[in-house]
Amino acid sequence: MTHAEAKERLGKLRQEIDRYRYEQHVLDALSISEAALDALKHELFQLEQTFSDLITPDSPTQRVAGKALEGFRKVTHTVPMLSLEDVFSREEADAWLLRVAKLGSGSVFDFFAEIKMDGLALSLVYRDGQLVEGSTRGDGRVGEDVTMSIRTIEAVPLALRQPSAREIDAFCKRHYGSINERRVRTFLRDLSGEIEIRGETFMTKEQLRSLNQLLETRGQPPLANPRNAAAGSIRQLDPSVVAERRLSFFGYTLIADAGTTTHEQAHEMIALLGVPQNPLNRFCRDLNEVERFHREVMECREDLAYWCDGIVVNVNNDELFRRLGVVGKTPRAAMAWKFPAEQGTSIVREIQVSVGRTGALTPVAVLDPVSLAGTTVTHASLHNEDEIERLDLRIGDTVIVEKAGDVIPKIIQVLPKLRTGKEKTFHMPKECPICGSAVTRREGEVATFCTNRECFAQELARLLHFVGRRMFDIRGLGDKIAEQMIQRGLVHEPSDIFSLTPGDLLTLEGFAELSSKKLVTEIQAHREVTLDRFIHALGIRHVGEETAADLARAFGTVQDFIETSKDDLLRIDGVGEVMADAILEFLHDRREQGRVQRLLQQVKVVSVIKRSTDLPLSGTIWVFTGTLSSLSREEAKERVRALGADVSESVSKKTSYVVVGEEAGSKADKARELGVKILDEDEFLKMVEEE
Ligand code: IVH
Repeated sequence: MTHAEAKERLGKLRQEIDRYRYEQHVLDALSISEAALDALKHELFQLEQTFSDLITPDSPTQRVAGKALEGFRKVTHTVPMLSLEDVFSREEADAWLLRVAKLGSGSVFDFFAEIKMDGLALSLVYRDGQLVEGSTRGDGRVGEDVTMSIRTIEAVPLALRQPSAREIDAFCKRHYGSINERRVRTFLRDLSGEIEIRGETFMTKEQLRSLNQLLETRGQPPLANPRNAAAGSIRQLDPSVVAERRLSFFGYTLIADAGTTTHEQAHEMIALLGVPQNPLNRFCRDLNEVERFHREVMECREDLAYWCDGIVVNVNNDELFRRLGVVGKTPRAAMAWKFPAEQGTSIVREIQVSVGRTGALTPVAVLDPVSLAGTTVTHASLHNEDEIERLDLRIGDTVIVEKAGDVIPKIIQVLPKLRTGKEKTFHMPKECPICGSAVTRREGEVATFCTNRECFAQELARLLHFVGRRMFDIRGLGDKIAEQMIQRGLVHEPSDIFSLTPGDLLTLEGFAELSSKKLVTEIQAHREVTLDRFIHALGIRHVGEETAADLARAFGTVQDFIETSKDDLLRIDGVGEVMADAILEFLHDRREQGRVQRLLQQVKVVSVIKRSTDLPLSGTIWVFTGTLSSLSREEAKERVRALGADVSESVSKKTSYVVVGEEAGSKADKARELGVKILDEDEFLKMVEEE
């Protein structure tokens, strides 16, 4: 990016971030996700790192979030309340450490890692052990006096707890040599003067849920997220309303001359003083341990009683922490290692059009790499023309991208305010980008299709589909090989692969005598398939694995399937109008009929067991519990399934038989209770053998 481009981008980013900050902090109604806003802030921060001469005093990075609200007395913090720089990956964490290690060269770096609760930072000031003032962060320098509200939070002690002499001894013993023992003893004994404890107030998931229920019954709007909930609650002017909100609190910073030398010790001391702290926080010897902690918390975050959006990593040594200093509003010696966001921002560089197995043209956005949910995303399907129109997406746009769990990435929103004017509108091509044939978009349909069934892209996609794991399962026939087979004219349609000889394959790139033979053997070994796989392999629109299995069960033979009618199809569970039409269109297409016949000359289709009602155990439900001596539980289940039975994991009134082995547990009791027929192993074997 050139200097001028950076300047323009920075200006737009700042404006946009400020607008969202206003929504978030003043209106309490952020219109995009926090993760998306974080991504914009992160881009701004990174860009300012590269073009540091372009940092302006009014940049959002130079200002601390929030502003003291009118209606509350202002409190000036004796030590500013800072915030943290975010990192999103191990690489960024490494880069952070590299930066601080350079500045603090020669020192040993170990860390105290904490859970980053999603709430609101508070400062609690105790004088001679009594809570005298509590405030919010505000702009970091000046916050709001919310003492009255804080006094209703049960987790916040109104008076600091006096540790016992034994506890003080134990603390000193544990940290012998690394604390100023005399100071620690006086501090903990007297609790005199001013002691400030900072921490996070937050609402548990359970609490927010019941509060929202309550608000709903009162016809009030629910609180959108935990941060808004904590912030909104603490700012209630009526303390009884705050009390009803049941906020929690964990301490994380001690500001006092307490004789400690590490962050870890300060945490221990906070706990001794009666302020709760997160029990999951942990000392980490190096960044690998920090990374492990990060991963562990991420894996269990669903089960935690509160929301957290990452971990906070502190250089443990206080002296070093101070020496590393502050840049802007963030201390160098700490950072927030966020959990991978499921939303982020990126720029659409190009829109490519791919052609699928059915000939459908799918526009795909090519994105600047963005890290989402732990993976790097560079492409997002745009599905069809209408979707692009709905998003009002142009090439060059900045967009919000989402990747939730294992779902494929999608663009959920365009940020038009970040446009430069150079963005280009996308038009669906009039010709297939692969074969150049005309495309059509049928009345009432969203998809555009290539009209040429011989289109290379379609042939390739069909072939790859055909050999896939859940279809003919032919290993060693990947994209590169399939591409060559079609290009060289060796294969036009899937059935052609069965006549390939080792000699044919030798002409392909990367094939030698042995590998050619191997692939041919592999292909020949897969001439036999079950009907469900056969139907799935045909590549009929809308017919996936599940439907193929339903169809196979319903028809039993290829012939019955091929000769089906719409009425027959609609009678099958899970087959609707659209699917039935797609199946019939395929079966009635002359060219497809030819393909199916040619395929049937090459392969043998074995029928799947028809789940009919005339098998001996049809209609019965079986439960197995305990250990059987002559066969495994899986084998036992297979035996009854083969006879038409269904197997279930739990006993209910519908259960027909419970087979009880050694050390059977509660399922046998339940069966007795419900009067379900119980069989021991011998009785069971006798029964299935008779059948
Ligand atoms: S330490 C220098 N520790 O995250 C900043 N902050 O992004 C000192 N937060 O404003 C903060 N849990 O509201 C720290 N264990 C924790 C935290 C934590 C949540 C919040 C806090 C802070 C923000 C920084």
